[in-house]
Amino acid sequence: MSRSHCCCIVCAVLASALAFCVVFGTSQMANGQDTTPKGEAPVSFINDVAPILKESCFGCHGVKNPKGRLDMTKYESFRKGGTKDDPIVAGKPEDSYLIDVLTATNKTRMPPREAGSALPKEKIAVLQRWIKEGAKLDANVEPKADLQKELRARWVPPVPKTAYPYPAQVTALAFTPDNQKLVVSGHHELTVWDFNTAKLEKRIYTRTRRAMALLFLPDCKLAVAGGRPNEEGDVRIYDLQGGTLKLENGVAILDGVNDKGVFVKQLLEADDEVTCLALSINGKKLASGGCDRIVNVWDIGGGIANAKLEQTIENHADWVYGVAFSPDGKELFTCSRDKTAKVWDLAAKESLLTFPEHQGGLSGIAVKADGKEGFSVGDDNQLRAWHTMGDQAGKQVKVLGNHGKAILKLAAHPTKPLLATAGADNVVKLWNPDTGANLKTLTGHTDWVFAVAFSPDANLVASGSYDGEVRVWKVADGSLVKSFIASPGAPTDKPQPPK
Ligand code: HEC
Repeated sequence: MSRSHCCCIVCAVLASALAFCVVFGTSQMANGQDTTPKGEAPVSFINDVAPILKESCFGCHGVKNPKGRLDMTKYESFRKGGTKDDPIVAGKPEDSYLIDVLTATNKTRMPPREAGSALPKEKIAVLQRWIKEGAKLDANVEPKADLQKELRARWVPPVPKTAYPYPAQVTALAFTPDNQKLVVSGHHELTVWDFNTAKLEKRIYTRTRRAMALLFLPDCKLAVAGGRPNEEGDVRIYDLQGGTLKLENGVAILDGVNDKGVFVKQLLEADDEVTCLALSINGKKLASGGCDRIVNVWDIGGGIANAKLEQTIENHADWVYGVAFSPDGKELFTCSRDKTAKVWDLAAKESLLTFPEHQGGLSGIAVKADGKEGFSVGDDNQLRAWHTMGDQAGKQVKVLGNHGKAILKLAAHPTKPLLATAGADNVVKLWNPDTGANLKTLTGHTDWVFAVAFSPDANLVASGSYDGEVRVWKVADGSLVKSFIASPGAPTDKPQPPK
């Protein structure tokens, strides 16, 4: 029945009929709900059931290639069933195939043995109670609604702590366009530091748990890629000068979650973390890659407000960890945990080449200024150069050098011949991509270095590590400008978070 307020005859009749049911029908209704403990609300599909299915079932019963042809990511398709019928008999958990497979002790059990252990009893009980209560969908959810999206919409990010109990891992860094400040990833926020004095100036709260890539656009707005691992991913655009400012202990706070003057646009909503961003040299194209293996390319030539998604590329078999445009903006270089680097022709929408020499997952990619060589790094500790053109395309030129452990990040200055690699050996190295020379080896970090970025004027390079430390160095002589723990109010003796 409609919930809108009306006072017509029909409603009056229906209302009295309903009142009749309520008075005389209660005993039957109570019978149908005898598994609902007294005083407890009925089980909600979206709040109680869907999170269980998402955690344990969506991986194999999603939209793409669902096992048993059962797509559980929508209520409607879940109830339609797969190769078999609706797996649920409303009101009768004991007759429901869904409960059979969850409680089975043979190979029909779900999730299958090779995927892990059986669902815990409490979770099965929630599903049983929901079926017993009628297996209903909540009134405010459409049967066709994407349940992952619905769950995301209900999730509210926590407000960052005034003082961190321990330093947060630094996963991304960017110098401001004026070379004066450093933007650093925090826990559900971005922090802006005057790196010469190590003074925290601004905090921008974000929905993203941790930013994985930060990139200033031509209009000085900041593109941020990130999300929550396995839960969601996004690319959002922030105006660090916009919105309403609040002061807390002399630090400016911006609400990048709700304030539309700060959080100005969302370019992408994904089902898993977005890990990397790239801007073409002419500033007209933006690309992202993420753990859903998908690469997106936007035309932002008409300004970020008019950004158009140009294409979506699925060319890798595993997480995409790096994207870079060729100097003319016509090709997109990508790399992945699938151990390959690839080059994609944006106009023809086809793969041009694959570089397969890495002996492990890749974590970063860059392109030489003349477009003739690609550079890539990864878990095999190597910085490799490879041909992009002619009959040698896809073949290795040489290994430029290596780290003592996995290389976790590769950064390239957009216009100067400068590359930086950062590794699990706690070291940052600078390279000249034109000559292949190792220019500097920067030591001092005491944990994995995961983030590295050049200042726009190419005079400085900043690096950030898992123990929360940021170091800023001069490119020319490798001298340290400053080091500090880039977590608001965190203890400076770097205690580690509980494992
Ligand atoms: C690792 C992959 C995997 C996971 C995780 C998984 N399933 Fe399955 N599921 C399968 C496969 C494979 C089949 C097809 C089995 C067959 O046809 O013999 C299947 C079939 C089913 C079917 C029968 C569909 C039909 O109509 O034929 C149901 C119901 C089901 N799964 C429920 C679940 C539930 C509930 C979960 C989460 C608790 C789950 N599955 C998790 C792989 C998985």
